Parts: sequence; C-alpha cells; structure tokens
Amino acid sequence: MVKVRDEIAADVSVREALLDAAFGEARFEKTSERLREGRRPAAKLALSACHEGAMVGTVRLWNVAAGTAGDGLLLGPLAVDEDRRGLGIGSKLMREALWRAARMGHRFVLLVGDAPYYARFGFEPAPIGLDLPGPVDRARFLAFEIIPGALGHACGMVVATGAMERSRRGVATEQRLAA
Ligand SMILES: CC(C)(COP(=O)(O)OP(=O)(O)OC[C@H]1O[C@@H](n2cnc3c(N)ncnc32)[C@H](O)[C@@H]1OP(=O)(O)O)[C@@H](O)C(=O)NCCC(=O)NCCS
Repeated sequence: MVKVRDEIAADVSVREALLDAAFGEARFEKTSERLREGRRPAAKLALSACHEGAMVGTVRLWNVAAGTAGDGLLLGPLAVDEDRRGLGIGSKLMREALWRAARMGHRFVLLVGDAPYYARFGFEPAPIGLDLPGPVDRARFLAFEIIPGALGHACGMVVATGAMERSRRGVATEQRLAA
C-alpha cells in the first residue's frame, strides 16, 4: 500500500539521496533548477510517497510566473526509488500533486521532462512563446492547463516567484532573537 503525504523534515536526506540516484550531480545544472534554487516549494506541494514504512518517492512543485499567463507552478523533480518503479508510485505522486494544485486554485503546471511519461497526465508541449532562464529541449518543455485556456498563447519568460528559503544564518538569528 503506497501512501502519499506532505514531505516532513526527516524526509529531506532520503529525498536528496533519491534525487542523486535518479539524476546524479547534473541535476543542479538543469535550467529548471534556476527556478528552484534558493526558493521554498509551493505551499502543501512538497510530497513524499511511502511504501512499507520507507520513503520511496518525491515530487515538489514551485511557484512561478509565466510571462503573459501570470502565476502558475513548475513541477519537479519527480523520482521513485529504483527498486520500487513500475508499481504506480510515480503516477500516485503526480495525481495527488495535480489534484492538490487544482484544489488550491492553481491554473497551470509547467515542467521539463520526458513527454512520453507525462502525456498520460495530460501534459502537452508548452506554448512556443514561453521561455525558460536557460537552454531547454523544447520537446521536453511541457505544460498542463488545470483551467482550460490558462496558458493559451502565453509568451514571455518564466520566473521564480516562490518564497525565499531561509538561510541557516537567518534561522539562527531568528532563534537568538526569540530566546
Ligand atoms: C519516471 C518515474 C518517476 C516513474 O515512476 P514509477 O513509479 O515507475 O511510475 P509508474 O509506476 O506510475 O508508471 C510506470 C510506467 O511509466 C513508464 N515510464 C517510466 N519512466 C518513463 C519515461 N522516462 N518515459 C516514458 N515512460 C516511462 C513505464 O514504462 C511504465 O509504463 P506502463 O504503465 O506502460 O507499464 C521513475 O521511473 C523515476 O524515478 N525515474 C528516474 C527519474 C526520472 O526520470 N524522473 C522523471 C522523468 S523526467
């Protein structure tokens, strides 16, 4: 039985190990990483999948603004433990993420990934007028309209709009001031 729930602090090291195993160090060079670095994921949209007591999958979504289309989400990275693939865990994470995003009133989701995998969830090529802050294979730049027409013929740059991550120093200062 697979359970998808909010990511908790104890998941972070497992999540990072999962992502290293799935994508390697090159993951930090990806163009979509430019929209994630230094930011916090969108509220209630950092998810972990658990199977037989172990955390085995992760997906997070991020607040962005996509040119003329305005506010939306960027999805990724999505990864499932290699030994647990093909059990529907990735699909369960995707469905929960998209369901939550819709329920929270988000209008569209962008991602850079394998079109043959994401097509099953309704993802199609992103509008040609949208740009990412770095090189991208257009065949892998995908979009899903939660509200039909939310992207339309959108054009312009996709930029990060999520809350900034708190630095360790900032957290330490806050704790000192609160003491
Ligand atoms: C992609 C990934 C998250 C799928 O997780 P999963 O739990 O195995 O997915 P599901 O069990 O829900 O779906 C399995 C199906 O997806 C297909 N699939 C898996 N990866 C695929 C890919 N990259 N392209 C196309 N199809 C893919 C499988 O062949 C299988 O097909 P079937 O349903 O016809 O048998 C997992 O394979 C993974 O972590 N891969 C490495 C990281 C990665 O590539 N992440 C995202 C893609 S950019």
